[in-house]
Amino acid sequence: MEKFYITTPIYYPSDRLHIGHAYTTVAADALARFHRLRGEEVFFLTGTDEHGQKIAKKAQEEGKEPKAYVDGIVSTIQDLWRAFHISYDDFIRTTEPRHTRVVQDIYRKLEAKGDIYKGTYEGWYCTPCETFWTEGKLVEGKCPTCGRDVERLREESYFLRLEPYAKTLREHILSHPDFIRPQSRKNEMLAFIDQGLEDLSVSRTSFDWGIRLPDDPRHVAYVWIDALTNYITAAGYGTDQARFERLWPADVHLVGKEIVRFHTIIWPIILLALGLELPKTVFGHGWLVLGGAKISKSLGNTVDPQTLIGRYGVDAVRHYLLREVPFGADGTYTEEALILRTNQDLANDLGNLLSRATAMIGRFSGGIIPEPTSESGLEGTAKDALERATAHLERLEISDAVEAVFTLVRRANKYIEEEAPWSLSRSGDPRLATVIYDLAESLRVAAVLLRPFLIEAPQGIYDQLGLGDIAGTTWADARWGGIQPGTEVKRGQPLFPRIDTAPSGSQADPAEETVEATTEEIDIGLFRRLDLRVAQVREAKPVKGTDRLLELTLALGDESRTVVSGIAEHYDPSSLVGKDVIVVANLAKAKIRGVTSHGMILAAKDPSGLALLTVDRPLASGSPVS
Ligand code: MSP
Repeated sequence: MEKFYITTPIYYPSDRLHIGHAYTTVAADALARFHRLRGEEVFFLTGTDEHGQKIAKKAQEEGKEPKAYVDGIVSTIQDLWRAFHISYDDFIRTTEPRHTRVVQDIYRKLEAKGDIYKGTYEGWYCTPCETFWTEGKLVEGKCPTCGRDVERLREESYFLRLEPYAKTLREHILSHPDFIRPQSRKNEMLAFIDQGLEDLSVSRTSFDWGIRLPDDPRHVAYVWIDALTNYITAAGYGTDQARFERLWPADVHLVGKEIVRFHTIIWPIILLALGLELPKTVFGHGWLVLGGAKISKSLGNTVDPQTLIGRYGVDAVRHYLLREVPFGADGTYTEEALILRTNQDLANDLGNLLSRATAMIGRFSGGIIPEPTSESGLEGTAKDALERATAHLERLEISDAVEAVFTLVRRANKYIEEEAPWSLSRSGDPRLATVIYDLAESLRVAAVLLRPFLIEAPQGIYDQLGLGDIAGTTWADARWGGIQPGTEVKRGQPLFPRIDTAPSGSQADPAEETVEATTEEIDIGLFRRLDLRVAQVREAKPVKGTDRLLELTLALGDESRTVVSGIAEHYDPSSLVGKDVIVVANLAKAKIRGVTSHGMILAAKDPSGLALLTVDRPLASGSPVS
């Protein structure tokens, strides 16, 4: 059986984690789930990096012992991963004895080999990044990674020789194209090696919150050496040799771009010195940024992922994190984009497809999946989706993999318009059975393909298709033809109700919209969801910066409503005042050219122009239309 060992960075429990940390962990979770679905033996590791000056300082500020302090934060981190349904196999804490032993063991080994020697460190230190810097590397006297203040250190320290391994490492990077990804990060690391690698200070004496060096306990291990070692501790190094040999080397270390250097220079050199194989891939993904700056605890611009899950649901947040930004690049986080992404992909495309398909199966096929009568119109697209999603996930191109599944979903929606099952039904065309089968089967395939990414929706789709528990399916079940004719569907609630609040969202400018008449039949229930009312125009004026939009103030019962309407070319504003109009009163608010519009007035159009819908005798404002 193939194995797949994937890790996230182990996070500093200096504070509650934010959406940036969730980004890495959710991505690793998607990859772990994908490999499990393929039947591989997966080991997915995450955890916490609990030692070092940064944590010691933070605990002191809070008036707590470091261990008591981190215990509190670690439980919030584990709660967060539960909320995201992170399927890790092990959660390592660097304060655990299993880890302390390994760190002490490797210091002994490195010293015995002559790779570590005692000296004095004199230079700069960035505590938030736990990084030593020489004078020349500082940028305007600040940390070149995070831009914060650095402190001057002069203390006795052990040093690890890096340069003796530089050549081997350089060759390894060049001969293993997948070792550092994406490519841009590889070039940066090669340039870094070529500047010459100075010996690295690997112990501290000015505080004691760390793992003591076995033969010189005045020193504690440098927190990065302690942290990186977690990847072999958890795999069984020094404790379960057989397991270690099966799992090591790690297949993927997933990390943020700011810590690629530790994972592709320092970590490999330690492994080379210990005579161990190097990880197959270190993938440095980009940052989620907010208002132009990296989301970070110390910048105070964090977004609490648990609040987002509470507000929008776990699938919406996971989908947004996995789909929104091409994996590797930086991406801007906004709540509006999360809402838009959820409404577009999950509510409009996926949710709608499920409601439409199950409604049509109910209506045209008595709720039973029929036997197809002709060649499938969607099989090719579904096959492509499986192939593309697989290839992208193998390459860690997560966003592209998600997109491959949604290509199938969108195509299936389009197929409904093209095939018009209601017309096939009217004319008694036998192709109807194929179309219905195709829709149900595409949904089933999509449900399986979405399993690495989403938690609730795949089962939701299976439930409504009458397919039972999705947990037993594998990636291979995404092949076409799995749904059996005769299966009884069970129409349910919408999978993803649209999110109606658009904090400062924008909607298409109504004047830009081209409305096409639809021939799709809907049921009365859908029509009744529209809240149509009679309203009177009180004021009308042009919207600045456009010559097609009018801002109307409507009296709607006791309420006054502002509605932006694309009718300026057809009506003089003053001619509208006093008119009765029909308004869609429950349309979500939208910002159009800076004006918040709440509702839409109805009009009809022919080649001669546009006319507003009205009533043929005056009616009370707010009267319902039915
Ligand atoms: N403890 C070290 C890692 C040791 S690994 C042997 C550390 N911890 S951290 O808590 O600061 O977490 C850093 C990681 O969190 C980043 O590498 C990245 O994976 C993730 N992110 C933190 N902020 C992020 C963004 N704003 N955007 C994307 N990922 C972010 O460094």
